[in-house]
Amino acid sequence: MSKKLIFIGAFLICSSLFGDSREKGKEIFLSYDCKMCHQDKAETVGPSLDKIGMFYSGKENDLVSYLKGQKKAIIYPERAAAMDPQLIKIRHLMDDEVRALARYLSTAYNYREDM
Ligand code: HEC
Repeated sequence: MSKKLIFIGAFLICSSLFGDSREKGKEIFLSYDCKMCHQDKAETVGPSLDKIGMFYSGKENDLVSYLKGQKKAIIYPERAAAMDPQLIKIRHLMDDEVRALARYLSTAYNYREDM
């Protein structure tokens, strides 16, 4: 294989691991109607994306565990009853989909269109 092909391959792998996984996470977030309870900035039924981003910034792995139901909520544990059924809804997601979702949620406040 030529060096150029290896370079292109590495580039594609990197962009699918970083750039595009956020986009995929956003798609999942929107397709499961998570936005119903999670707005960008405003605290509504659930914490805003800003708040989730603040709590989980740099802790993407913790967020993956939370989304898989392996770790307890840290933001509003007293309201977990409203969120728990949502975790059941996403239980069938593949590993890379959960990761993409966690990437989106832990960085959403860095990428807001209005900033
Ligand atoms: C019916 C309203 C509702 C919907 C729909 C909803 N959530 Fe939540 N979510 C909540 C509430 C309430 C909390 C606060 C309780 C808590 O912190 O566990 C929460 C908390 C969270 C948290 C923070 C967990 C923590 O550590 O405290 C994450 C992450 C999250 N939701 C992701 C999602 C995702 C992803 C979806 C879509 C699949 C979703 N939510 C859909 C109500 C909702």
